[in-house]
Amino acid sequence: MAYKEIRKNVYFVGAIDWDRALFDELIPLPDGTSYNSYLVIGKEKTALIDTVEPGKGDTLVENLLKLSVDKIDYIISNHAEQDHSGTIPRILDLYPDAKVVTNPKCKGFLKDLLLIPEEKFIEVKDGDELPLGEKTLKFVYTPWVHWPETMSTYLVEDKIMFTCDFFGSHLATSHYLDPDYNKVIEDAKRYYAEIMMPFRAIIKKNVAKIEKYEIEIIAPSHGPVYTEPDIIINAYKDWISDDVKNEVIIAYISMHGSVDKMVHHLVAALIEKGVHVKLFNLITMDLGVFAMSLVNAATIIMGTPEVLAGLHPAAVYATFLVNALRPKVKFAGLVGSYGWSGRTLLNQFKALAPNLKVDIFEPVLSRGYPVETDFRAIDKLAEEIFKKHSEIGII
Ligand code: FEO
Repeated sequence: MAYKEIRKNVYFVGAIDWDRALFDELIPLPDGTSYNSYLVIGKEKTALIDTVEPGKGDTLVENLLKLSVDKIDYIISNHAEQDHSGTIPRILDLYPDAKVVTNPKCKGFLKDLLLIPEEKFIEVKDGDELPLGEKTLKFVYTPWVHWPETMSTYLVEDKIMFTCDFFGSHLATSHYLDPDYNKVIEDAKRYYAEIMMPFRAIIKKNVAKIEKYEIEIIAPSHGPVYTEPDIIINAYKDWISDDVKNEVIIAYISMHGSVDKMVHHLVAALIEKGVHVKLFNLITMDLGVFAMSLVNAATIIMGTPEVLAGLHPAAVYATFLVNALRPKVKFAGLVGSYGWSGRTLLNQFKALAPNLKVDIFEPVLSRGYPVETDFRAIDKLAEEIFKKHSEIGII
């Protein structure tokens, strides 16, 4: 996409990345992504808000050339991660008088990651303003969306909040200003789940802080802009709230069919009781969909066979991930099969998930292929889950 005018003298000058399939060599991007860079032209000064992934630097530079930008006074860096900062050195080469405007923490990262010299920086504090001439930028610290240094930039006269990763979505689309918001929210939820969910408590404060501003447009650095800011703000409020839904996430792996049989019995028992379920096979699941499913679920159950006297390595990875993502789940449990002793399974599961503040159900572990007593134990587990969900009022 070429540049696009959002408001008078405010332009999208970033790049769409239709083909990117993975982020951080970890996170699947089924819908591609974009790196949104914005140009704000004031009467006296010109500012570029964030840049793009270095591999897409040509697109940013072409957009600046098409707009005949002969000077950039300020490069605002809301976030030091390279998908937004990586083209700053190239812009500094092209516009040698430009200064990088950012907070002290972000400056430290930019010096370490991109070797930008000290003299290129102007430091700003939370609430500082930078006049451009009939346009004013105001800096709003919004830490931990996604790194500790992240901030947002508010364009006072146009009421645009540039939020970088915050409220962003990994979505490549030509409908940059008129997107299908259902699709945007789905991708924004995926993004929230993958990188922001662990910092839910801080994000709550950031949402409250942002809401104090009169905002007509939220312009993140991934995905389309929101010309109806309430859509994404309300979605975030749901995700960051303490409320959980009547839903059980079951992630499992089965080598010879025992765990498969057990988890499918559990799924049927839960559905019969009116408890909603999402089942993920750890071999085939999409990591992003799994992370998304954890945003509002009340319960997580891990299903695993015993392998080498412990959880199957795929279950170790999934449990590690759940622990790192810190979802607001309130209950957890383990369903498994073993051939030797099975004694270590629960302890290992607990040890891998210290961040989860959950009540843990009695595990259901079958020796070999599950038999009648195991199925009755699973029925009991389903009953316990139902009771717990009822006690907290979500059924
Ligand atoms: Fe889009 Fe945290 O970078």
